[in-house]
Amino acid sequence: MTELRVGIIGCGLIGRSHATGLRSAPGARIVAVHDLDVDRATRLAEEFSPLGPEAVMAGPDEVMAAVDAVYVCTWTSAHPALVADAASAGLAVFCEKPLAKTFDQAREMTAAVAMAGVVNQVGLVLRHSPAFRLLRAMIRRPEVGPIMNVVFRDDQYLPTQGMYGSTWRGDVDKAGGGALLEHSIHDLDLLEWLIGPIADVSARMGAVHGLPGIDDQATVTLTAQSGAQAALVSVWHDVLTRPSQRRVEVFAGKGYFSLEGDWHGPVGYDIAETELGPPNADRLEGHGLVDRCRELGLSGFQPDADFVSSALDRRPASPDFRLALEAHRLADAAYRSAASGGVTIATPPLRSP
Ligand SMILES: NC(=O)c1ccc[n+]([C@@H]2O[C@H](COP(=O)([O-])OP(=O)(O)OC[C@H]3O[C@@H](n4cnc5c(N)ncnc54)[C@H](O)[C@@H]3O)[C@@H](O)[C@H]2O)c1
Repeated sequence: MTELRVGIIGCGLIGRSHATGLRSAPGARIVAVHDLDVDRATRLAEEFSPLGPEAVMAGPDEVMAAVDAVYVCTWTSAHPALVADAASAGLAVFCEKPLAKTFDQAREMTAAVAMAGVVNQVGLVLRHSPAFRLLRAMIRRPEVGPIMNVVFRDDQYLPTQGMYGSTWRGDVDKAGGGALLEHSIHDLDLLEWLIGPIADVSARMGAVHGLPGIDDQATVTLTAQSGAQAALVSVWHDVLTRPSQRRVEVFAGKGYFSLEGDWHGPVGYDIAETELGPPNADRLEGHGLVDRCRELGLSGFQPDADFVSSALDRRPASPDFRLALEAHRLADAAYRSAASGGVTIATPPLRSP
């Protein structure tokens, strides 16, 4: 197969973002789209499909009958049924994060795609970010020594407003949770990717906005099997000049690292003199950061292109549902901990890393 016929179900913010990514993904052709809001689907088809409005389908079944691969980009509560149908139809499936409202649903979805043997990928797209890839490569350098601690702050305005404009994020029946599940599942995934398997978690949460079931602040403490510790603070406020903002600081015995800016940095580092080399400090962003990534052999910054090439070659994609399920295990433990007043909950990994 040299061409992948792609369908998109859910044509909102992230559906459009993937349509943009698919434009530059060799071999991808968007041939079918569907949204409960027909105008959204039509606008997306007119802009991104060679078929124009003919690509708009009456329902998910019609999409799945017309494609080799499907993007599930609806609000979270609709993910499980659509993924089950895609797996039954033998389609490659890209599902947005979080996979589902609950860990149990996410586990069923992971089992379904594994049983069907379909290529699967999840929208934990920050694993493709040059900034996070550079940070991860730098903190693993041997001269740096063991990682001691990570301070991970993530804040954005409550995404029922501004560019998100999505009322469903304030509805627990559709979103499953607030800042931690809906947004910071990215951060839980990144933390385990950065510091290795997480052994236990404790958490406190708050809901200042008074939306039932929607946490708008979370403080999660994580301990890695290595002994490294991490503190994640996730906040949804009402400062509309602050969309998604991450700031990460990593402390190792012989190095300090920082990241501001999810994709293009800046990423800074300050490595002490060791027997392995002289002191080494820099601060990189934008093109300079991408150039440094290339020098270090880091590539693959386009999640949609990766998914398309994996689906065309019928080889495993990444990050896949099994990796996302690991992040769901941490989110689930954090919510259980917060509900019990912050008790520490063991989080043995579901699979070896
Ligand atoms: N990976 C990321 O960084 C990232 C960023 C934003 C959103 N997301 C995730 O993507 C998903 C969608 O978020 P969004 O910001 O695009 O929301 P959105 O509100 O902009 O768009 C969601 C669309 O899905 C449609 N929809 C809902 N249920 C449907 C169904 N059963 N069939 C067809 N269409 C349906 C809605 O009409 C809406 O147009 C969520 O799970 C969210 O968490 C991921």
